[in-house]
Amino acid sequence: LRLVVLISGGGSNLRALLDASDDAEFPARVVAIGADRDAEGLAHAEEFGIPSFVVPFNAFDSREAWGDELVDQLRQWQADLVILSGFMRLLPPRAVEALSPALLNTHPAYLPEFPGAHAVRDALAAGVAQTGASVIIVDHGVDSGPIVAQRRVPVLPGDTEGRLHDRIKLVERELLVDVVLDIANGQLDLTTLA
Ligand code: GRF
Repeated sequence: LRLVVLISGGGSNLRALLDASDDAEFPARVVAIGADRDAEGLAHAEEFGIPSFVVPFNAFDSREAWGDELVDQLRQWQADLVILSGFMRLLPPRAVEALSPALLNTHPAYLPEFPGAHAVRDALAAGVAQTGASVIIVDHGVDSGPIVAQRRVPVLPGDTEGRLHDRIKLVERELLVDVVLDIANGQLDLTTLA
Protein backbone atom coordinates (compact mmCIF):
# COMPACT_ATOMS: atom_id res chain seq x y z
CA LEU A 1 0.00 0.00 0.00
CA ARG A 2 1.56 3.29 -1.14
CA LEU A 3 1.04 6.02 1.48
CA VAL A 4 1.64 9.72 1.11
CA VAL A 5 1.46 11.69 4.35
CA LEU A 6 0.73 15.43 4.35
CA ILE A 7 1.90 17.60 7.23
CA SER A 8 2.12 21.26 8.22
CA GLY A 9 4.00 21.04 11.49
CA GLY A 10 6.37 18.84 13.47
CA GLY A 11 5.07 15.59 12.01
CA SER A 12 5.37 13.58 15.21
CA ASN A 13 2.49 11.35 14.11
CA LEU A 14 4.15 11.00 10.70
CA ARG A 15 7.24 9.79 12.49
CA ALA A 16 5.27 6.98 14.08
CA LEU A 17 4.07 5.88 10.65
CA LEU A 18 7.62 6.02 9.32
CA ASP A 19 8.86 3.89 12.21
CA ALA A 20 6.08 1.36 11.57
CA SER A 21 6.61 1.29 7.80
CA ASP A 22 10.34 0.90 8.34
CA ASP A 23 9.53 -2.66 9.43
CA ALA A 24 9.77 -4.89 6.35
CA GLU A 25 6.71 -6.82 7.61
CA PHE A 26 4.53 -3.72 7.58
CA PRO A 27 2.35 -3.97 4.42
CA ALA A 28 2.47 -0.25 3.66
CA ARG A 29 5.18 2.17 2.61
CA VAL A 30 5.33 5.91 3.04
CA VAL A 31 6.47 6.73 -0.51
CA ALA A 32 6.51 10.50 -0.11
CA ILE A 33 5.82 13.25 2.40
CA GLY A 34 4.13 16.47 1.39
CA ALA A 35 3.49 19.79 3.07
CA ASP A 36 1.71 23.08 2.43
CA ARG A 37 4.71 24.99 3.80
CA ASP A 38 8.31 24.45 4.81
CA ALA A 39 7.21 22.24 7.71
CA GLU A 40 9.82 21.17 10.26
CA GLY A 41 8.46 17.62 10.00
CA LEU A 42 9.97 17.38 6.50
CA ALA A 43 13.23 16.68 8.31
CA HIS A 44 11.82 13.20 9.07
CA ALA A 45 11.67 12.57 5.31
CA GLU A 46 15.35 13.35 5.00
CA GLU A 47 16.23 11.14 7.95
CA PHE A 48 14.32 8.20 6.46
CA GLY A 49 15.51 8.90 2.92
CA ILE A 50 11.95 9.45 1.71
CA PRO A 51 11.17 12.00 -1.04
CA SER A 52 9.26 15.07 0.01
CA PHE A 53 7.49 17.91 -1.73
CA VAL A 54 6.05 21.26 -0.75
CA VAL A 55 3.05 22.87 -2.42
CA PRO A 56 3.16 26.30 -0.77
CA PHE A 57 -0.36 27.52 -0.11
CA ASN A 58 0.79 31.12 -0.43
CA ALA A 59 2.31 30.59 -3.87
CA PHE A 60 -1.10 30.12 -5.51
CA ASP A 61 -3.73 32.71 -6.23
CA SER A 62 -6.58 30.45 -5.12
CA ARG A 63 -7.29 27.51 -2.84
CA GLU A 64 -8.55 25.62 -5.90
CA ALA A 65 -5.30 26.14 -7.84
CA TRP A 66 -3.30 25.06 -4.80
CA GLY A 67 -5.50 22.01 -4.37
CA ASP A 68 -5.16 21.04 -8.04
CA GLU A 69 -1.37 21.14 -7.79
CA LEU A 70 -1.46 19.08 -4.60
CA VAL A 71 -3.67 16.44 -6.25
CA ASP A 72 -1.35 16.40 -9.25
CA GLN A 73 1.65 15.74 -7.00
CA LEU A 74 -0.23 12.96 -5.19
CA ARG A 75 -1.14 11.36 -8.51
CA GLN A 76 2.51 11.43 -9.56
CA TRP A 77 3.38 9.47 -6.41
CA GLN A 78 0.58 7.01 -7.23
CA ALA A 79 -0.67 7.25 -3.66
CA ASP A 80 -3.07 4.46 -2.71
CA LEU A 81 -3.89 6.32 0.50
CA VAL A 82 -3.31 9.93 1.53
CA ILE A 83 -3.06 10.66 5.25
CA LEU A 84 -3.40 14.17 6.64
CA SER A 85 -1.43 14.23 9.86
CA GLY A 86 -1.22 17.64 11.37
CA PHE A 87 -2.10 19.16 8.02
CA MET A 88 -3.62 22.50 8.90
CA ARG A 89 -5.33 23.43 5.64
CA LEU A 90 -8.81 22.74 4.36
CA LEU A 91 -8.71 21.01 1.00
CA PRO A 92 -10.90 22.60 -1.69
CA PRO A 93 -13.93 20.55 -2.88
CA ARG A 94 -12.25 19.44 -6.14
CA ALA A 95 -9.33 17.99 -4.19
CA VAL A 96 -11.60 16.14 -1.75
CA GLU A 97 -13.58 14.76 -4.73
CA ALA A 98 -10.38 13.59 -6.40
CA LEU A 99 -8.89 11.90 -3.33
CA SER A 100 -11.66 10.74 -0.98
CA PRO A 101 -12.39 8.14 0.37
CA ALA A 102 -8.68 7.17 0.22
CA LEU A 103 -8.06 10.33 2.23
CA LEU A 104 -7.79 10.12 6.01
CA ASN A 105 -7.31 12.74 8.69
CA THR A 106 -6.27 12.24 12.28
CA HIS A 107 -7.82 14.54 14.86
CA PRO A 108 -6.96 14.99 18.55
CA ALA A 109 -10.52 14.65 19.90
CA TYR A 110 -13.37 12.12 20.11
CA LEU A 111 -15.31 13.42 17.06
CA PRO A 112 -17.89 14.73 16.71
CA GLU A 113 -16.73 16.36 19.97
CA PHE A 114 -14.35 19.32 19.57
CA PRO A 115 -13.86 19.65 15.79
CA GLY A 116 -11.57 22.34 14.42
CA ALA A 117 -8.05 23.56 14.86
CA HIS A 118 -8.05 23.91 18.69
CA ALA A 119 -9.54 20.60 19.77
CA VAL A 120 -7.19 20.00 22.70
CA ARG A 121 -7.51 23.53 24.06
CA ASP A 122 -11.31 23.33 23.69
CA ALA A 123 -11.50 20.03 25.58
CA LEU A 124 -9.45 21.46 28.43
CA ALA A 125 -11.58 24.60 28.53
CA ALA A 126 -14.73 22.47 28.59
CA GLY A 127 -13.45 20.71 31.71
CA VAL A 128 -14.31 17.24 30.38
CA ALA A 129 -12.92 14.18 32.18
CA GLN A 130 -12.05 12.48 28.91
CA THR A 131 -11.51 13.42 25.30
CA GLY A 132 -10.02 11.21 22.60
CA ALA A 133 -8.39 10.68 19.23
CA SER A 134 -10.10 9.98 15.91
CA VAL A 135 -9.23 8.91 12.38
CA ILE A 136 -11.83 9.95 9.82
CA ILE A 137 -12.38 9.95 6.07
CA VAL A 138 -12.08 13.56 4.89
CA ASP A 139 -15.27 14.98 3.43
CA HIS A 140 -16.24 18.51 2.49
CA GLY A 141 -16.73 19.65 6.06
CA VAL A 142 -14.30 20.40 8.88
CA ASP A 143 -13.52 17.17 10.77
CA SER A 144 -17.00 15.94 9.82
CA GLY A 145 -16.32 12.84 7.70
CA PRO A 146 -17.13 9.19 8.53
CA ILE A 147 -15.28 7.95 11.62
CA VAL A 148 -12.90 5.09 10.80
CA ALA A 149 -11.44 4.60 14.28
CA GLN A 150 -11.47 6.47 17.57
CA ARG A 151 -10.50 5.90 21.19
CA ARG A 152 -11.05 7.76 24.48
CA VAL A 153 -8.14 9.56 26.18
CA PRO A 154 -8.41 10.68 29.82
CA VAL A 155 -7.87 14.29 30.85
CA LEU A 156 -5.79 14.27 34.02
CA PRO A 157 -5.66 16.88 36.81
CA GLY A 158 -3.08 19.54 36.09
CA ASP A 159 -3.04 18.75 32.38
CA THR A 160 -1.68 21.50 30.20
CA GLU A 161 -2.63 21.67 26.52
CA GLY A 162 0.79 20.30 25.64
CA ARG A 163 0.70 17.39 28.07
CA LEU A 164 -2.83 16.40 27.07
CA HIS A 165 -1.99 16.73 23.37
CA ASP A 166 1.06 14.49 23.79
CA ARG A 167 -1.11 11.86 25.51
CA ILE A 168 -3.65 12.11 22.66
CA LYS A 169 -0.97 11.90 19.97
CA LEU A 170 0.22 8.58 21.36
CA VAL A 171 -3.28 7.23 20.74
CA GLU A 172 -3.55 8.92 17.33
CA ARG A 173 -0.42 7.07 16.26
CA GLU A 174 -1.74 3.72 17.41
CA LEU A 175 -5.03 4.33 15.62
CA LEU A 176 -3.22 5.40 12.43
CA VAL A 177 -0.99 2.33 12.35
CA ASP A 178 -3.95 0.02 13.09
CA VAL A 179 -6.11 1.59 10.38
CA VAL A 180 -3.33 1.43 7.79
CA LEU A 181 -2.77 -2.23 8.69
CA ASP A 182 -6.47 -3.06 8.36
CA ILE A 183 -6.67 -1.31 4.99
CA ALA A 184 -3.50 -2.97 3.71
CA ASN A 185 -4.79 -6.39 4.90
CA GLY A 186 -8.14 -5.83 3.23
CA GLN A 187 -10.00 -5.91 6.55
CA LEU A 188 -11.16 -2.32 6.09
CA ASP A 189 -12.62 -0.99 2.85
CA LEU A 190 -12.92 2.78 2.93
CA THR A 191 -15.37 2.83 0.02
CA THR A 192 -17.94 1.02 2.19
CA LEU A 193 -17.61 3.69 4.88
CA ALA A 194 -17.76 6.79 2.72
C1 GRF B 1 -1.97 16.14 15.67
O1 GRF B 1 -2.60 15.97 16.94
C2 GRF B 1 -3.03 16.18 14.62
O2 GRF B 1 -4.14 15.36 14.86
C3 GRF B 1 -3.46 17.62 14.71
O3 GRF B 1 -2.28 18.35 14.90
C4 GRF B 1 -1.33 17.50 15.54
C5 GRF B 1 -0.14 17.44 14.65
O4 GRF B 1 0.93 17.04 15.38
N1 GRF B 1 -4.15 18.04 13.50
P1 GRF B 1 2.27 16.60 14.59
O5 GRF B 1 2.53 17.67 13.53
O6 GRF B 1 1.99 15.24 13.97
O7 GRF B 1 3.31 16.55 15.66
